[in-house]
Amino acid sequence: MSTWTPQSWRQKPISQVPAYPDAEKLAAVEAQLAKFPPLVFAGEGRELKTHLGAVARGESFLLQGGDCAESFAEHGADHIRDFFRVFLQMAVVLTHGASKPVLKVGRIAGQFAKPRSSDTETIDGVTLQSYRGDIINDIAFTEAARVPDPERLLLAYRQSAATLNLLRAFASGGYADLTRVHEWTMGFMKDTSAYPRFEELAKKIDDAIDFMRALGLTPDNTPSLRETKFYTSHEALLLGYEEALTRRDSITGDYYATSGHMLWIGDRTRQPDAAHVEYFSGIKNPIGIKCGPSLSTDDLLKLLDKLNPANEAGRITLIGRFGAEKVEEHLPRLVEAVQKAGATVVWCSDPMHGNTVKASSGYKTRPFDRIMSEVQSFFAVHRSLGTYAGGIHIEMTGDDVTECTGGGVAAITDAGLKDRYHTYCDPRLNASQALELAFLVAEEVRAQRPARAIRAAE
Ligand code: TRP
Ligand code: MN
Repeated sequence: MSTWTPQSWRQKPISQVPAYPDAEKLAAVEAQLAKFPPLVFAGEGRELKTHLGAVARGESFLLQGGDCAESFAEHGADHIRDFFRVFLQMAVVLTHGASKPVLKVGRIAGQFAKPRSSDTETIDGVTLQSYRGDIINDIAFTEAARVPDPERLLLAYRQSAATLNLLRAFASGGYADLTRVHEWTMGFMKDTSAYPRFEELAKKIDDAIDFMRALGLTPDNTPSLRETKFYTSHEALLLGYEEALTRRDSITGDYYATSGHMLWIGDRTRQPDAAHVEYFSGIKNPIGIKCGPSLSTDDLLKLLDKLNPANEAGRITLIGRFGAEKVEEHLPRLVEAVQKAGATVVWCSDPMHGNTVKASSGYKTRPFDRIMSEVQSFFAVHRSLGTYAGGIHIEMTGDDVTECTGGGVAAITDAGLKDRYHTYCDPRLNASQALELAFLVAEEVRAQRPARAIRAAE
């Protein structure tokens, strides 16, 4: 540990590395980035870790979500606003369901680098380097577009800064007003006669808001009804970028990644002795570990030991992504091992990545029912083992896309996928599917009440 530096990962075996043709240019860009201002402040990372500690204790619920991959082309105020609107609507529904604060963490303002199962992609006999996310190369299927370009690190940094700036303004500038957020949901519900069940829940929230108003608590006189706290997260895949934004906190002397509040390690890069884990071992941010079916119990314990030797609450969030029919096989063994080791973690479910299928139309999709089924199994496993199901991690957008099939409101069919299939990587829930999921998850969260102390939201 004492030998850790922000660049010590460079001495370790590493996977998912882009083939930059010009190493000198890459180094020059990284040096430039190292002088740029941090995007987030270490104190915010500590604050998020404290909040995640409350999730680990069952006092709060984590909502984490956003695009699979952010793109330069989709960068615009409307895209960010529409995402944030649905995200807040989900948060209100879940807060009511849980009767606990919901910790809001976006997969945004830095979610650009994508791990790939193959270094190359072949279409009609032509083989090119795989697209690795806008921070690395361009999605267009031409030889030139696919060459990794260091300049893209600077563009990703600047896009992240602009996105974060707007989100901070939305979170504290009146856009997150609880009564308004709920009015959007009521407006949305009105047109979905198929869901009287959700309407009932929405009406209960309405009543609660009326009751608060009667007591004299309004967004005008009560900042906590008007503002919220929103954190950012992404997969820390491109370690040269992360290293350049790793800074020593002047207050504690500790190193923090300042590219986002929370970073996670992907299921493809979590080898205990490799570069990514080395990098994560030295930063003090709260971190996530994606856990797929291939994660052995031994490796998980090794990772916890290496990444959280002091067993600090809130440091580790385990994000399971097993697939609807595999959760019950794999989650219990991991939960039992963690329990036995006495480790404190947040258990979170990513019901997206294990449920990708190829539709008959040829599109990569995720059926809404499979997504829901994984979430329900996640809650069921924790109920039966007496542990706390702490959160969900989803790929979503506020746009009206057709990427995942199903959903009672959206009812997207295989044939309808082609209409607005816009994703740069994996299929995302659209606005109505995401909100519907929140209503269904709220029922699950409610079923695991009563929990312990109920703390006031921020
Ligand atoms: N401040 C509280 C919270 O963040 C209540 C709140 C205000 C809220 N605006 C919100 C909750 C929008 C969810 C969504 O939890
Ligand atoms: Mn994805």
